[in-house]
Amino acid sequence: MSRSIVFSAVIFLSSLFSARAVFAETEASAPVSAQEQAASPAPAEASLYERLGGEQAIASVVEVFTAKAASDPKVNFTRQGTPKPWNATPEKVEVFKKHMTQFIAGVTGGPQVYEGKDMVTAHAGMKITHAEFDALAADLKAALQEFNVPQKEQDELLALVETTRGAIVEEA
Ligand code: HEM
Repeated sequence: MSRSIVFSAVIFLSSLFSARAVFAETEASAPVSAQEQAASPAPAEASLYERLGGEQAIASVVEVFTAKAASDPKVNFTRQGTPKPWNATPEKVEVFKKHMTQFIAGVTGGPQVYEGKDMVTAHAGMKITHAEFDALAADLKAALQEFNVPQKEQDELLALVETTRGAIVEEA
């Protein structure tokens, strides 16, 4: 499915939800007392996974993000000139994208089970620097922006990615 179709579907669905919310507001007739309001809990917010549009939408972002990171000299994704160069064969890149999608889906509240290595093991010996990590995060942000992901969801995902820094960066 093309990216634009996935995102049109997401936008269509969210417009349905907001239309429903407006409808519900105009229909409500009985006044709600302050006591009743205080007693009813605030409706739970959808998970970040759902707000991002689920697995298909996340896979589309990962596709664009991987292309950006792989061609970004500031990231040096294939670790050329380091003790652990990575041979980015098409097969390995596919596995990477699959695992990255599972990883993001899992940490944002999706039902997916992450099947890859833990972050320390996956990056051990790659000598990833803070500057490289920052460049990768910027590529992810740029990919999210391309899909018009709202600022709040961008910030939440980048905050989750930030929690992996200590496991990935090997620099004092
Ligand atoms: C500059 C920063 C980074 C570089 C250069 C980098 C590089 C790589 C490379 C080359 C691999 C493939 C390893 C292999 O298949 O043996 C990999 C795997 C992976 N990375 Fe990163 N990474 C970076 C940051 C991150 C961040 C911030 C995350 C999490 C948000 C992440 C998540 C993953 C995942 C999920 C895998 C798959 C592990 C597996 O297949 O077992 N990486 N990374």
